[in-house]
Amino acid sequence: MSKLLGPFSQILTMTDSPILEDGGILLEDGKIARIAPFKDLYDQAEEVEEIEAPSVCLPGFIDCHTHICYGGSRVNDYLLKLRGVSYQEIAKQGGGILHTVQATRKASRKELLEGLRKRCFLLLARGVTTCEVKSGYGLTVEDEIKMLEVIEEAKTSVPLSLISTCLAAHTIPQEFTGGSSYLQYIGRELLPKIQKWTTRVDIFVEKNAFSEGEARDYLLQAKKRGFDLVVHGDQFSSGGAKLAAEVGALSADHLEHISKEDIAFLAKSKTIPVVLPGASLGLGLPFAPARLLLDAGLPLAIASDWNPGSAPMGDLLTQAALLAIHEKISMMDTFAAITCRAAKALKLEDRGSLKVGYLADLVVFPTNDYREILYYQGSLRPSQVFKRGKRYVF
Ligand code: NIG
Ligand code: FE
Repeated sequence: MSKLLGPFSQILTMTDSPILEDGGILLEDGKIARIAPFKDLYDQAEEVEEIEAPSVCLPGFIDCHTHICYGGSRVNDYLLKLRGVSYQEIAKQGGGILHTVQATRKASRKELLEGLRKRCFLLLARGVTTCEVKSGYGLTVEDEIKMLEVIEEAKTSVPLSLISTCLAAHTIPQEFTGGSSYLQYIGRELLPKIQKWTTRVDIFVEKNAFSEGEARDYLLQAKKRGFDLVVHGDQFSSGGAKLAAEVGALSADHLEHISKEDIAFLAKSKTIPVVLPGASLGLGLPFAPARLLLDAGLPLAIASDWNPGSAPMGDLLTQAALLAIHEKISMMDTFAAITCRAAKALKLEDRGSLKVGYLADLVVFPTNDYREILYYQGSLRPSQVFKRGKRYVF
């Protein structure tokens, strides 16, 4: 059954013909069948869903890096940060990632699922229609599988698409003394068991987590098993991003401390840079050099990194707008970073722009000028969101 949406004051397609005024979108089976002037489509549709003016329609946003499945809170860490204690120092004092690991291990599946679902609905209201979710707060075979199963269950009970990633290599759990013995354990005991839930493996390459050497072996092992690779790299010290490019990772995420040489190295690879302004805002630290990454010709993606520690805000649009004004990123590059380029970072070829055959994942803002969306720095909220053609009104 075909359904026509519109008229939209503007449709921002994120393709080569970027802006259509007074357009309509014809849907069939949750996918885009045609995009054309509304009046040209009016007679073709079996059903019309009128959109109240003014309205700008874009591809649903894609948040390609989050940690929104977790137990507990890190508000105490935040108080320490306000007093000037660093993220690494907090971790050494028993806060940080391991604090969330404790709370997540303790949480029941039901509690984890409820928290995850609540965050998913918040994301949907903010225009996100696809979201990546990492494990990484379990750090034992059983607890990592518990997280992946909870994410799997959420996939069937939230409107947005969830893409899960195994981040068992998030940090070294208390039960282990060294990074390499822990990586050997998860390489041997966990990776062979998780292919039914995820195709993606991530690792945190950093001084207090895993070294480049340890990470290389683990990533190559995961690659051999057929996983797509992702690296948390260059957040506090450089090296991880270069490794990501070397092993052919899909994306290198964070990059606050990437060097000019490594930007050049990344630019020769297929690895997509994902910057996480929410982690800079959550830690009170400088942003990643997004302008330099774009100047090197890289297809910059932006994600929220929503997590209870370094990035508690979880508001992708606000964060992208703030990064853009600080780093001098054009509006089109900013929108691309949270739509088509974020889709690329997740290897999704059916969304991220508005094209015939793509999913009818759309976000609609109550304005007739798309530029106002970033101008208002996130405070202009979507009036409605469509996921596979189904409407959610806010
Ligand atoms: O991407 N840097 C490592 N991991 C997460 C933080 C997770 C946490 O603090 O709980 C990040 O910022
Ligand atoms: Fe992260």
